Amino acid sequence: MAVQTLDDLLAEGVSGRGVLVRSDLNVPLDGGRITDPGRIIASVPTLKALADAGAKVIVTAHLGRPKGGVDPAFSLAPVATALSERLGRHVQLAGDVVGTDALARAEGLTDGDVLLLENIRFDPRETSKDDGERLALAKALVELVGEDGAFVSDGFGVVHRKQASVYDVATLLPHYAGTLVAAEVKVLQQLTSSSERPYAVVLGGSKVSDKLAVIENLATKADSIVIGGGMCFTFLAAHGVSVGTSLLQEEMIETCRQLLETYGDVIHLPVDIVVAEKFAADSPAETVWADSIPADKMGLDIGPESVKRFTKLLSNARTIFWNGPMGVFEFPAFAAGTKGVAEAIVAATGKGAFSVVGGGDSAAAVRQLGLPEDGFSHISTGGGASLEYLEGKTLPGIEVLN
Ligand code: 3PG
Repeated sequence: MAVQTLDDLLAEGVSGRGVLVRSDLNVPLDGGRITDPGRIIASVPTLKALADAGAKVIVTAHLGRPKGGVDPAFSLAPVATALSERLGRHVQLAGDVVGTDALARAEGLTDGDVLLLENIRFDPRETSKDDGERLALAKALVELVGEDGAFVSDGFGVVHRKQASVYDVATLLPHYAGTLVAAEVKVLQQLTSSSERPYAVVLGGSKVSDKLAVIENLATKADSIVIGGGMCFTFLAAHGVSVGTSLLQEEMIETCRQLLETYGDVIHLPVDIVVAEKFAADSPAETVWADSIPADKMGLDIGPESVKRFTKLLSNARTIFWNGPMGVFEFPAFAAGTKGVAEAIVAATGKGAFSVVGGGDSAAAVRQLGLPEDGFSHISTGGGASLEYLEGKTLPGIEVLN
């Protein structure tokens, strides 16, 4: 059976009905200030459609990775405020997840009201490996919306997690894919099933281990895989190059060596690097060739010659997937690599390429570096989720909707 969508639920009628929505509101915070509201903005259409249709909307979401209990530093309070503003209606925040306050507030909802539950990960059953524990939490969530309730899965960024509010709750309630989940899956399907060639993949971020499976999966499908960010130093080390004090995953050097041996014609590494003495915004920057990194310096960005070469490669691409920044873009002195590559993707998109930005840090980079969001075909809200999809893995939160 095909996945039921929000439109199907709206057609059934939701006025006066309790609807539980799993959103991904896991936004980056800097001392209580939201630095990138992308996921909040992306969650609005589903919530608005339900509230406008008169549903009693109960939103569940996580923030960060609190360790096994309530931690005020991970409260969704700043998110509730931002969501109220974006939604144009007041969003109440429950003082707990499924406790007495959440229950009382859920009972008090009137048609079109929106209630956000406190960080679902304050309840350790959410991420438990024990099926029974997760199911017990899912049952408590169902109690909030009542027997005739419905579940809308709209947190694309978390669909790769088999967790109570993502997976188990869908086994208990009539379930529907929200507009965000439906849109994201459609794009990723297009990327995997009908990618026009040349297909270029741009990977960055700090750890090779996070990207290993996707490299292995895409090396045979893509025409080029461009590698930058912290992970490029493990590849450079695999070439026998000394990388100074740069980020290095020693245990992955041999794996990288084998990848380069097998897919050397597909994988492209930076030829120059912007280095500094310390990981600090004001540490003086210097550009060196990738095989001449001083022993006491660390690489914090790819250099201009690498950007030039990567740009040339991307300019011919018809399909592009980008995940992970090329350098420490949060520090202006080390943002040029990420900006340059992003601009190259925007230019290729302008010439008709289909481009997808996969998640978290790269999506934040697009916004923070002032790049036009509509310069890309799609900016995903899911980092890990989009990677796992491209790795060919089954995503529990999607599978359960089938
Ligand atoms: C993300 O930030 O990628 C999602 O919100 C999932 O968060 P998690 O990696 O902590 O499960």
